[in-house]
Amino acid sequence: MVHHFNYLLLIPLMVAAAAAAGDEFMNENSQLFPSAATTAIHLPSDPVPPSCPALNPNLNYRPVIGILSHPGDGASGRLSNDTNASYIAASYVKFVESAGARVIPLIYNEPPQLLEKKLNLVNGVLFTGGWAKTGLYFSTVQTVFKKVLEKNDAGDHFPVIAICLGFELLTMIISQNQSILEQFSAADQAATLQFIANTNLNGTVFQRFPPDLLQKLSTDCIVMQNHHVYVSTVMGQHYPVTGFQWHPGKNAFEWGLSTIPHSEDAVRVTQHVANFFVSEARKSSNRPPAREVLDNLIYNYTPTYGGKAGRGYDEVYIFT
Ligand SMILES: *[C@@H]1O[C@H](CO)[C@@H](O)[C@H](O)[C@H]1NC(C)=O
Ligand SMILES: *[C@@H]1O[C@H](CO)[C@@H](O)[C@H](O)[C@H]1NC(C)=O
Ligand SMILES: *[C@@H]1O[C@H](CO)[C@@H](O)[C@H](O)[C@H]1NC(C)=O
Ligand SMILES: *[C@@H]1O[C@H](CO)[C@@H](O)[C@H](O)[C@H]1NC(C)=O
Repeated sequence: MVHHFNYLLLIPLMVAAAAAAGDEFMNENSQLFPSAATTAIHLPSDPVPPSCPALNPNLNYRPVIGILSHPGDGASGRLSNDTNASYIAASYVKFVESAGARVIPLIYNEPPQLLEKKLNLVNGVLFTGGWAKTGLYFSTVQTVFKKVLEKNDAGDHFPVIAICLGFELLTMIISQNQSILEQFSAADQAATLQFIANTNLNGTVFQRFPPDLLQKLSTDCIVMQNHHVYVSTVMGQHYPVTGFQWHPGKNAFEWGLSTIPHSEDAVRVTQHVANFFVSEARKSSNRPPAREVLDNLIYNYTPTYGGKAGRGYDEVYIFT
């Protein structure tokens, strides 16, 4: 995959500074509902009902996101001590679903052919946070990432978002340097994000942020991270890859730490990032057989509530 690296320069967008502080359901082939935002109010007395705008034939309105599971139970053994266990925090699933996509779990230690088959059923991939930086997990991230780049090279628009550990692993993979990461002392807290001077936000995750929210990113503590000053958000120059060293999904969906911001603005950040990711996935032309998608959706699994411990994730999907 060496030839990709020239094109995979990650452009830093931001650094962060830690602050001190029934029939309503559609079936598989039915039309989408008209969007309220696109139609003027229609009065019964109007002679001709307004027609709904045509759907964009270039977009996939049924995107599916693959989320790679991480070793362990996500709860320090409180839920499972199975050495083969891996998990996906349900907050990542909700994050994706909240923006109009469904999820297929990519289980990191399942047979490679199965993983590849599932990768062909999705329109984008999310690499989660966690701690595993070596072994099978690292090599699976590497393999999945390579295949994602190949999909893009072959002409599909196939986005990736990499959060925290995911971002760090992509940094190691792209730089081919296992020691590129600097040590940091973890201190979970809300933070501000500072844009790098003269950053062009066009085409980035921040393009869709309204001006008031962009402003608040740098003044209010509305994102959750755990480092001091560092590069916090990057995007690929030639690939739809975005990395976050903060946790865009937690604001709306995780309650275990008192430091996670839950203000309306913090939740708006979660929503805009999710909308960005899924809007990228709608550009993917991959249209796998519907039945195969259904058979592999995360709806075939049940999450476990672990939030009563008062720490860690509220809900996790565990795969053994
Ligand atoms: C896992 O092992 C720990 C330590 O022995 C134990 O406290 C915990 O209850 C075990 N978890 C489960 C789900 O059995
Ligand atoms: C480990 O988990 C994976 C994914 O669920 C499964 O495919 C594999 O058979 C499991 N291996 C063992 C030894 O249980
Ligand atoms: C890997 O990254 C570290 C930290 O930036 C640097 O000191 C080292 O020279 C790099 N190694 C290689 C082979 O580039
Ligand atoms: C933003 O990016 C799009 C697509 O890359 C391009 O067509 C457009 O001209 C850009 N707009 C600005 C203001 O740079």
